Amino acid sequence: MDPNRGPRLNPHIASAPLYTPGTAVEEVAARYGVAEVIKLASNENPLGPSPRAVAAIRAALPELFRYPRIADDELRARLAERLGPAIGPEHIATGNGATELLALISQGFIDEGDEAIICPPTFPMYEILIRRRGGRPVRVNLTVDYEYDVEAILAAITPRTRLIFICSPNNPTGTIMTQTEADRLMAGVPDRVVVIFDESYLAFVDRDDHVKAIDYVRAGRTVILLRSFSKAHGLAGLRVGYAIAHPTLAEYLWRSRLPFHLGSLALVGAMAALDDVDHVSRTRALIIAERAKLVDRLKALGLFVVPSQSNFIIFRPGYDPQTVYEHLLRRGVIVRPADFFYMPEFIRVSVGTPEQNARFIAALKDVLDVLAAGQAERS
Ligand SMILES: Cc1ncc(COP(=O)(O)O)c(C=O)c1O
Repeated sequence: MDPNRGPRLNPHIASAPLYTPGTAVEEVAARYGVAEVIKLASNENPLGPSPRAVAAIRAALPELFRYPRIADDELRARLAERLGPAIGPEHIATGNGATELLALISQGFIDEGDEAIICPPTFPMYEILIRRRGGRPVRVNLTVDYEYDVEAILAAITPRTRLIFICSPNNPTGTIMTQTEADRLMAGVPDRVVVIFDESYLAFVDRDDHVKAIDYVRAGRTVILLRSFSKAHGLAGLRVGYAIAHPTLAEYLWRSRLPFHLGSLALVGAMAALDDVDHVSRTRALIIAERAKLVDRLKALGLFVVPSQSNFIIFRPGYDPQTVYEHLLRRGVIVRPADFFYMPEFIRVSVGTPEQNARFIAALKDVLDVLAAGQAERS
Protein backbone atom coordinates (compact mmCIF):
# COMPACT_ATOMS: atom_id res chain seq x y z
CA MET A 1 0.00 0.00 0.00
CA ASP A 2 1.30 3.44 -0.92
CA PRO A 3 1.95 5.15 2.45
CA ASN A 4 1.20 8.56 0.93
CA ARG A 5 -2.16 7.64 -0.55
CA GLY A 6 -3.41 4.99 1.85
CA PRO A 7 -5.61 5.58 4.90
CA ARG A 8 -4.26 7.70 7.75
CA LEU A 9 -3.00 5.37 10.46
CA ASN A 10 -3.11 6.44 14.08
CA PRO A 11 0.62 6.99 14.71
CA HIS A 12 0.34 5.91 18.36
CA ILE A 13 -1.13 2.53 17.43
CA ALA A 14 1.25 2.12 14.50
CA SER A 15 4.35 2.83 16.60
CA ALA A 16 3.58 1.23 19.99
CA PRO A 17 5.66 -1.91 20.60
CA LEU A 18 3.94 -5.27 20.24
CA TYR A 19 3.54 -7.81 23.02
CA THR A 20 6.02 -10.68 22.68
CA PRO A 21 4.56 -13.96 23.93
CA GLY A 22 6.54 -16.91 25.31
CA THR A 23 7.86 -19.32 22.66
CA ALA A 24 5.37 -22.11 21.81
CA VAL A 25 6.05 -25.78 22.57
CA GLU A 26 5.19 -26.85 18.99
CA GLU A 27 7.70 -24.39 17.54
CA VAL A 28 10.56 -25.71 19.66
CA ALA A 29 9.60 -29.35 19.07
CA ALA A 30 9.63 -28.76 15.30
CA ARG A 31 12.81 -26.63 15.25
CA TYR A 32 15.00 -28.83 17.44
CA GLY A 33 13.32 -32.21 17.03
CA VAL A 34 12.90 -32.58 20.79
CA ALA A 35 10.10 -34.99 21.66
CA GLU A 36 9.16 -33.69 25.09
CA VAL A 37 9.38 -29.93 25.35
CA ILE A 38 8.54 -28.23 28.64
CA LYS A 39 7.33 -24.64 28.68
CA LEU A 40 8.23 -22.59 31.72
CA ALA A 41 7.88 -19.28 29.89
CA SER A 42 4.37 -17.91 30.40
CA ASN A 43 3.50 -18.54 34.07
CA GLU A 44 0.88 -21.09 33.11
CA ASN A 45 -0.55 -23.53 35.64
CA PRO A 46 1.58 -26.73 35.72
CA LEU A 47 -1.45 -28.72 36.92
CA GLY A 48 -3.43 -27.75 33.82
CA PRO A 49 -6.94 -26.29 33.69
CA SER A 50 -9.50 -26.60 36.45
CA PRO A 51 -11.14 -30.01 35.77
CA ARG A 52 -14.53 -28.63 36.77
CA ALA A 53 -14.15 -25.85 34.19
CA VAL A 54 -13.26 -28.40 31.51
CA ALA A 55 -16.36 -30.47 32.33
CA ALA A 56 -18.63 -27.41 32.30
CA ILE A 57 -17.18 -26.26 28.96
CA ARG A 58 -17.75 -29.72 27.43
CA ALA A 59 -21.35 -29.71 28.64
CA ALA A 60 -21.91 -26.25 27.12
CA LEU A 61 -20.67 -27.12 23.62
CA PRO A 62 -24.11 -27.97 22.12
CA GLU A 63 -25.30 -24.44 22.95
CA LEU A 64 -22.54 -22.78 20.93
CA PHE A 65 -24.94 -21.78 18.17
CA ARG A 66 -26.47 -19.24 20.57
CA TYR A 67 -25.05 -15.86 21.48
CA PRO A 68 -23.67 -15.85 24.99
CA ARG A 69 -25.75 -14.20 27.71
CA ILE A 70 -25.06 -10.53 27.19
CA ALA A 71 -25.32 -9.99 30.91
CA ASP A 72 -22.50 -11.50 32.90
CA ASP A 73 -24.46 -10.84 36.10
CA GLU A 74 -24.33 -14.49 37.20
CA LEU A 75 -20.53 -14.59 37.03
CA ARG A 76 -20.28 -11.21 38.75
CA ALA A 77 -22.69 -12.34 41.48
CA ARG A 78 -20.64 -15.49 42.13
CA LEU A 79 -17.43 -13.51 42.21
CA ALA A 80 -18.94 -11.02 44.64
CA GLU A 81 -20.04 -13.86 46.94
CA ARG A 82 -16.45 -15.02 47.19
CA LEU A 83 -14.94 -11.61 47.67
CA GLY A 84 -16.46 -11.13 51.10
CA PRO A 85 -18.31 -8.34 52.88
CA ALA A 86 -19.38 -5.08 51.25
CA ILE A 87 -18.50 -6.22 47.72
CA GLY A 88 -21.43 -6.78 45.37
CA PRO A 89 -21.79 -7.47 41.64
CA GLU A 90 -21.89 -3.69 41.13
CA HIS A 91 -18.21 -3.56 42.17
CA ILE A 92 -17.14 -5.98 39.42
CA ALA A 93 -16.43 -5.66 35.70
CA THR A 94 -15.38 -8.73 33.73
CA GLY A 95 -12.96 -8.78 30.82
CA ASN A 96 -11.48 -10.96 28.10
CA GLY A 97 -8.52 -11.63 30.37
CA ALA A 98 -7.17 -8.98 32.72
CA THR A 99 -5.52 -7.65 29.55
CA GLU A 100 -8.84 -6.45 28.13
CA LEU A 101 -9.49 -4.57 31.34
CA LEU A 102 -6.07 -2.95 31.08
CA ALA A 103 -7.02 -1.83 27.57
CA LEU A 104 -10.40 -0.50 28.74
CA ILE A 105 -8.66 1.36 31.56
CA SER A 106 -6.21 3.08 29.19
CA GLN A 107 -9.04 3.83 26.79
CA GLY A 108 -11.16 5.25 29.59
CA PHE A 109 -8.55 7.39 31.32
CA ILE A 110 -5.69 8.22 28.94
CA ASP A 111 -5.91 10.84 26.22
CA GLU A 112 -3.10 12.35 24.18
CA GLY A 113 -0.42 13.77 26.49
CA ASP A 114 -1.85 12.30 29.72
CA GLU A 115 0.60 10.67 32.10
CA ALA A 116 0.52 7.27 33.76
CA ILE A 117 3.08 6.13 36.30
CA ILE A 118 4.58 2.69 35.84
CA CYS A 119 7.27 1.06 37.99
CA PRO A 120 9.71 -0.97 35.86
CA PRO A 121 10.76 -3.69 35.76
CA THR A 122 7.08 -4.57 35.38
CA PHE A 123 4.44 -5.98 33.04
CA PRO A 124 5.13 -4.35 29.64
CA MET A 125 1.46 -4.15 28.60
CA TYR A 126 0.96 -1.11 30.85
CA GLU A 127 3.43 0.94 28.83
CA ILE A 128 2.28 -0.47 25.49
CA LEU A 129 -1.37 0.41 26.15
CA ILE A 130 -0.54 3.91 27.46
CA ARG A 131 1.49 4.56 24.32
CA ARG A 132 -1.29 3.30 22.05
CA ARG A 133 -3.47 6.07 23.48
CA GLY A 134 -0.82 8.74 22.91
CA GLY A 135 -0.20 8.92 26.65
CA ARG A 136 3.14 9.35 28.37
CA PRO A 137 4.42 6.50 30.55
CA VAL A 138 6.30 8.04 33.48
CA ARG A 139 8.80 5.52 34.81
CA VAL A 140 9.50 5.33 38.53
CA ASN A 141 11.84 2.37 38.78
CA LEU A 142 11.69 -0.19 41.58
CA THR A 143 14.47 0.16 44.15
CA VAL A 144 17.69 -1.90 43.95
CA ASP A 145 15.85 -4.53 46.02
CA TYR A 146 13.00 -4.53 43.48
CA GLU A 147 10.61 -2.87 45.92
CA TYR A 148 8.22 0.00 45.24
CA ASP A 149 9.69 3.45 45.84
CA VAL A 150 6.55 5.03 47.28
CA GLU A 151 8.03 8.49 47.88
CA ALA A 152 9.34 8.63 44.32
CA ILE A 153 5.93 7.59 42.97
CA LEU A 154 4.22 10.36 44.95
CA ALA A 155 6.82 12.87 43.81
CA ALA A 156 6.16 11.92 40.17
CA ILE A 157 2.46 12.85 40.30
CA THR A 158 1.64 15.94 38.22
CA PRO A 159 -1.64 17.59 37.17
CA ARG A 160 -1.54 15.34 34.07
CA THR A 161 -1.23 12.07 36.00
CA ARG A 162 -4.29 9.90 35.43
CA LEU A 163 -3.18 6.39 36.44
CA ILE A 164 -0.62 4.65 38.66
CA PHE A 165 0.09 0.98 37.94
CA ILE A 166 1.05 -1.21 40.90
CA CYS A 167 1.61 -4.88 40.15
CA SER A 168 1.72 -7.09 43.24
CA PRO A 169 3.13 -9.67 43.06
CA ASN A 170 5.00 -7.91 40.32
CA ASN A 171 5.77 -9.54 36.98
CA PRO A 172 8.71 -10.19 36.36
CA THR A 173 10.34 -9.68 39.80
CA GLY A 174 7.87 -11.61 42.00
CA THR A 175 8.22 -8.90 44.65
CA ILE A 176 5.23 -7.30 46.38
CA MET A 177 3.80 -4.07 47.74
CA THR A 178 3.26 -4.33 51.49
CA GLN A 179 0.27 -2.96 53.39
CA THR A 180 2.45 -0.28 54.98
CA GLU A 181 3.80 0.87 51.61
CA ALA A 182 0.34 0.86 50.05
CA ASP A 183 -1.12 2.87 52.94
CA ARG A 184 1.65 5.44 52.51
CA LEU A 185 0.93 5.57 48.79
CA MET A 186 -2.83 5.90 49.19
CA ALA A 187 -2.39 8.62 51.82
CA GLY A 188 -0.60 10.78 49.24
CA VAL A 189 -2.48 10.05 46.01
CA PRO A 190 -5.24 12.52 45.14
CA ASP A 191 -8.67 10.99 44.36
CA ARG A 192 -8.52 12.23 40.75
CA VAL A 193 -5.72 9.69 40.09
CA VAL A 194 -6.77 6.05 39.71
CA VAL A 195 -4.44 3.48 41.27
CA ILE A 196 -4.48 0.12 39.50
CA PHE A 197 -3.55 -2.84 41.69
CA ASP A 198 -2.81 -5.69 39.29
CA GLU A 199 -3.30 -8.80 41.41
CA SER A 200 -3.15 -11.43 38.67
CA TYR A 201 -0.74 -13.50 40.80
CA LEU A 202 -2.35 -12.91 44.21
CA ALA A 203 -3.10 -16.61 44.78
CA PHE A 204 0.61 -17.37 45.16
CA VAL A 205 1.37 -14.92 47.97
CA ASP A 206 2.24 -16.41 51.36
CA ARG A 207 3.54 -13.28 53.11
CA ASP A 208 0.95 -11.81 55.43
CA ASP A 209 2.19 -8.23 54.99
CA HIS A 210 0.91 -8.14 51.38
CA VAL A 211 -1.45 -5.22 50.72
CA LYS A 212 -5.17 -6.06 51.04
CA ALA A 213 -6.08 -3.71 48.24
CA ILE A 214 -9.74 -4.75 48.26
CA ASP A 215 -10.11 -2.77 51.49
CA TYR A 216 -9.43 0.41 49.49
CA VAL A 217 -12.46 -0.50 47.32
CA ARG A 218 -14.49 -0.99 50.51
CA ALA A 219 -13.30 2.43 51.69
CA GLY A 220 -14.52 4.05 48.44
CA ARG A 221 -11.03 5.00 47.16
CA THR A 222 -10.32 5.45 43.45
CA VAL A 223 -8.59 2.13 42.87
CA ILE A 224 -9.16 -0.66 40.36
CA LEU A 225 -8.02 -4.18 41.28
CA LEU A 226 -7.35 -6.64 38.49
CA ARG A 227 -7.59 -10.40 38.83
CA SER A 228 -7.21 -13.21 36.30
CA PHE A 229 -8.42 -16.75 35.70
CA SER A 230 -5.25 -17.42 33.70
CA LYS A 231 -2.93 -18.42 36.54
CA ALA A 232 -4.32 -20.15 39.65
CA HIS A 233 -7.36 -21.50 37.79
CA GLY A 234 -5.25 -22.67 34.84
CA LEU A 235 -7.45 -21.01 32.21
CA ALA A 236 -5.04 -18.80 30.27
CA GLY A 237 -6.52 -20.03 26.99
CA LEU A 238 -10.08 -19.18 28.01
CA ARG A 239 -9.39 -15.44 28.48
CA VAL A 240 -11.27 -14.31 31.59
CA GLY A 241 -10.31 -11.65 34.08
CA TYR A 242 -12.14 -9.17 36.26
CA ALA A 243 -11.81 -5.79 37.89
CA ILE A 244 -12.98 -4.86 41.39
CA ALA A 245 -13.67 -1.16 41.91
CA HIS A 246 -16.11 1.44 43.20
CA PRO A 247 -19.44 0.92 41.36
CA THR A 248 -18.93 4.16 39.39
CA LEU A 249 -15.60 2.91 38.04
CA ALA A 250 -16.83 -0.68 37.54
CA GLU A 251 -19.82 0.60 35.57
CA TYR A 252 -17.57 2.89 33.51
CA LEU A 253 -15.46 -0.13 32.48
CA TRP A 254 -18.58 -2.23 31.92
CA ARG A 255 -20.06 0.41 29.60
CA SER A 256 -16.92 0.54 27.47
CA ARG A 257 -16.72 -3.18 26.69
CA LEU A 258 -18.16 -4.78 23.55
CA PRO A 259 -21.43 -6.69 23.70
CA PHE A 260 -20.72 -10.42 24.17
CA HIS A 261 -17.15 -9.68 25.29
CA LEU A 262 -16.99 -13.05 27.06
CA GLY A 263 -17.87 -16.11 25.00
CA SER A 264 -20.32 -18.63 26.44
CA LEU A 265 -17.53 -21.15 27.10
CA ALA A 266 -15.58 -18.51 28.99
CA LEU A 267 -18.61 -17.66 31.11
CA VAL A 268 -19.45 -21.26 32.09
CA GLY A 269 -15.78 -22.20 32.46
CA ALA A 270 -15.03 -19.31 34.79
CA MET A 271 -18.08 -20.01 36.94
CA ALA A 272 -17.16 -23.68 37.30
CA ALA A 273 -13.54 -22.76 38.06
CA LEU A 274 -14.70 -20.55 40.91
CA ASP A 275 -16.31 -23.59 42.54
CA ASP A 276 -13.14 -25.63 42.01
CA VAL A 277 -11.55 -24.55 45.27
CA ASP A 278 -9.58 -27.78 45.37
CA HIS A 279 -7.76 -27.06 42.10
CA VAL A 280 -6.72 -23.61 43.27
CA SER A 281 -5.48 -24.87 46.63
CA ARG A 282 -3.52 -27.73 45.04
CA THR A 283 -1.97 -25.26 42.60
CA ARG A 284 -1.09 -22.82 45.35
CA ALA A 285 0.47 -25.53 47.53
CA LEU A 286 2.52 -26.87 44.62
CA ILE A 287 3.79 -23.44 43.58
CA ILE A 288 4.73 -22.35 47.09
CA ALA A 289 6.60 -25.59 47.82
CA GLU A 290 8.32 -25.79 44.44
CA ARG A 291 9.39 -22.16 44.15
CA ALA A 292 11.30 -22.45 47.44
CA LYS A 293 13.15 -25.51 46.13
CA LEU A 294 13.78 -23.84 42.79
CA VAL A 295 15.24 -20.74 44.45
CA ASP A 296 17.57 -22.93 46.53
CA ARG A 297 18.72 -24.87 43.46
CA LEU A 298 19.36 -21.74 41.44
CA LYS A 299 21.34 -20.28 44.32
CA ALA A 300 23.26 -23.55 44.61
CA LEU A 301 24.36 -22.95 40.99
CA GLY A 302 25.84 -19.67 42.21
CA LEU A 303 23.21 -17.48 40.55
CA PHE A 304 21.63 -14.27 41.77
CA VAL A 305 17.91 -14.92 42.38
CA VAL A 306 15.19 -12.47 43.43
CA PRO A 307 12.93 -13.95 46.18
CA SER A 308 9.49 -14.51 44.65
CA GLN A 309 5.92 -14.40 45.91
CA SER A 310 4.61 -15.55 42.53
CA ASN A 311 4.59 -18.58 40.24
CA PHE A 312 7.81 -17.53 38.49
CA ILE A 313 11.35 -16.66 39.48
CA ILE A 314 13.76 -14.19 37.97
CA PHE A 315 17.48 -14.96 38.02
CA ARG A 316 20.72 -13.69 36.50
CA PRO A 317 22.33 -16.52 34.54
CA GLY A 318 25.74 -14.84 34.45
CA TYR A 319 25.98 -15.29 30.67
CA ASP A 320 24.07 -13.59 27.88
CA PRO A 321 20.43 -14.54 28.65
CA GLN A 322 19.59 -14.98 24.97
CA THR A 323 22.44 -17.49 24.59
CA VAL A 324 21.37 -19.41 27.69
CA TYR A 325 17.77 -19.36 26.46
CA GLU A 326 18.74 -20.78 23.08
CA HIS A 327 20.88 -23.52 24.62
CA LEU A 328 17.96 -24.44 26.87
CA LEU A 329 15.61 -24.57 23.86
CA ARG A 330 17.86 -27.18 22.24
CA ARG A 331 17.43 -29.22 25.41
CA GLY A 332 13.64 -28.87 25.16
CA VAL A 333 13.19 -26.30 27.94
CA ILE A 334 11.49 -22.98 27.19
CA VAL A 335 12.15 -20.08 29.57
CA ARG A 336 11.80 -16.32 29.02
CA PRO A 337 14.71 -13.93 28.52
CA ALA A 338 13.57 -10.90 30.50
CA ASP A 339 14.69 -8.07 28.20
CA PHE A 340 11.06 -7.52 27.21
CA PHE A 341 10.35 -7.10 30.95
CA TYR A 342 12.98 -4.34 31.36
CA MET A 343 15.56 -6.81 32.81
CA PRO A 344 18.05 -7.51 30.01
CA GLU A 345 20.50 -9.40 32.22
CA PHE A 346 17.89 -11.81 33.58
CA ILE A 347 15.86 -14.89 32.70
CA ARG A 348 12.38 -15.55 34.05
CA VAL A 349 11.34 -19.13 34.69
CA SER A 350 7.85 -20.27 35.65
CA VAL A 351 7.52 -22.72 38.52
CA GLY A 352 6.52 -26.13 37.14
CA THR A 353 5.86 -29.61 38.48
CA PRO A 354 8.70 -31.23 40.50
CA GLU A 355 9.70 -33.20 37.36
CA GLN A 356 9.70 -30.12 35.12
CA ASN A 357 11.72 -28.13 37.63
CA ALA A 358 14.26 -30.94 37.99
CA ARG A 359 14.60 -31.13 34.22
CA PHE A 360 15.03 -27.38 33.95
CA ILE A 361 17.73 -27.31 36.64
CA ALA A 362 19.61 -30.24 35.04
CA ALA A 363 19.45 -28.56 31.62
CA LEU A 364 20.53 -25.20 33.04
CA LYS A 365 23.46 -26.74 34.88
CA ASP A 366 24.52 -28.44 31.67
CA VAL A 367 24.25 -25.19 29.68
CA LEU A 368 26.22 -23.21 32.28
CA ASP A 369 28.95 -25.92 32.25
CA VAL A 370 29.14 -25.76 28.44
CA LEU A 371 29.34 -21.95 28.47
CA ALA A 372 31.97 -21.98 31.24
CA ALA A 373 34.06 -24.50 29.28
CA GLY A 374 33.80 -22.32 26.15
CA GLN A 375 34.91 -19.29 28.11
CA ALA A 376 37.86 -21.21 29.64
CA GLU A 377 38.93 -22.33 26.16
CA ARG A 378 38.91 -18.77 24.82
CA SER A 379 40.91 -17.33 27.71
C1 LIG B 1 0.99 -8.76 35.68
C2 LIG B 1 0.04 -9.31 34.68
N1 LIG B 1 -1.15 -8.72 34.53
C3 LIG B 1 -2.04 -9.17 33.64
C4 LIG B 1 -1.76 -10.28 32.87
C5 LIG B 1 -2.75 -10.70 31.85
O1 LIG B 1 -3.55 -11.71 32.31
P1 LIG B 1 -4.73 -12.28 31.43
O2 LIG B 1 -4.27 -13.59 30.89
O3 LIG B 1 -5.88 -12.41 32.40
O4 LIG B 1 -5.04 -11.31 30.35
C6 LIG B 1 -0.54 -10.93 32.99
C7 LIG B 1 -0.23 -12.09 32.15
O5 LIG B 1 0.83 -12.62 32.10
C8 LIG B 1 0.38 -10.43 33.92
O6 LIG B 1 1.59 -10.99 34.07
